[in-house]
Amino acid sequence: MPADPILGMTAMFLEDKFPKKVNLGQGVYRTDEGKPYVLSSIKEAEGRVASELQSGRTFKEYLPIEGDATFRKLSAELVFGAGSAALREGRVATMQTISGTGAVSVAASTLRLVGGFTEIYLPEPSWSNHAQIFGAAGLEVRSYPYLDKRTGTTLDFEAMHEALATMVPAGSAVLLHACAHNPTGVDPTPEQWEVLAGTFAKRGLLAVFDSAYQGYASGDLDADAASVRCFEAAGVLPIVCQSYAKSMGLYGERVGAVNFVTASAAEAAAVLSNVKQRVVRPVYSSPPLHGARLASLVLGDPALSAAWRAELLVMAGRVRRMRAELAAALVRLGAPAPDGGRWEHLTAQIGMFAYTGLSAQHVDALRERYHVYMTRDGRACMAALKPDDVEYVAGAMNKVLRG
Ligand code: LMR
Repeated sequence: MPADPILGMTAMFLEDKFPKKVNLGQGVYRTDEGKPYVLSSIKEAEGRVASELQSGRTFKEYLPIEGDATFRKLSAELVFGAGSAALREGRVATMQTISGTGAVSVAASTLRLVGGFTEIYLPEPSWSNHAQIFGAAGLEVRSYPYLDKRTGTTLDFEAMHEALATMVPAGSAVLLHACAHNPTGVDPTPEQWEVLAGTFAKRGLLAVFDSAYQGYASGDLDADAASVRCFEAAGVLPIVCQSYAKSMGLYGERVGAVNFVTASAAEAAAVLSNVKQRVVRPVYSSPPLHGARLASLVLGDPALSAAWRAELLVMAGRVRRMRAELAAALVRLGAPAPDGGRWEHLTAQIGMFAYTGLSAQHVDALRERYHVYMTRDGRACMAALKPDDVEYVAGAMNKVLRG
């Protein structure tokens, strides 16, 4: 099989012997020194988890099929917020999952096996793994317009809305990115989310949100969940997939959740039991323990939670700074871009990724000639860029763009 479009790049990067190689492929955070980063709130939580284990207060027993009860409750509260009617009325079925991929995968299998859905609509483009996940679950993967083909770097809201309001059959399942759309970094505005929520309610569309960057996109946990909350308030009953890989830097711990908002507490209980028995038990029985304990402490302990929020601001701020520095370096070099060389899309987009506008041929040249790695759709991880590499990357981009 061809290598994975994202993880295959990391594998190639690791093989590369060139000393100045730069990896902007996979979505991971690096410090200004280019080092992986373990959040101090997570380090503190690790200490507490270890001492509970050492003193015999906790064990390594199996979690229930649905996962850790405290984690599930706190995770749902994080995304739906204190004002959520669905949470207050006990209408949300939450499963702990194997990070965001696991959350989307459980959602996909549930749509197929429990909901009887046969297709799903994804934005064009979307995270490369989405089509694989839904396809593997037996769903037909269709698409709706998202990125403006004329600019290549902005949202075509008119085409998106037109498709969802008229072309996509009523009652269909539609995937949305809650914030910091991956790969483009281009999101609808709050007003556009309101319009979409109204259309979803009117047409009975099932919104499946992928929320992989809450708190990471803007540094504000509530602002980054506004899309999900506006849908819930409009009476749409969304499915919401969550990942703590980026926001808590828990990549390898595989911590996530999937939330099914339903019409009643009885329906939530029925959904949960179906997901447990028909989707999760036959595949992995129960989710991993350790990362969920860490995330529970960070979400539930006021001091750790405050420390985490502060670290989110630092991470989101560093990513914004890298966007600005790369854009400025490209402008200084006069590197050609579709907007007349202003490179404004780099700073207008949000989240980990810059959708540079580079073609697959440019990306290949960048890798082969300069050992700078990004995915072949021109997506570059700004969270992985370090200040010392900005000039080198901008120079390399400029040269490949000029041919
Ligand atoms: C990415 O998009 O780079 C990340 O979500 C990592 C992954 O698993 O693809």
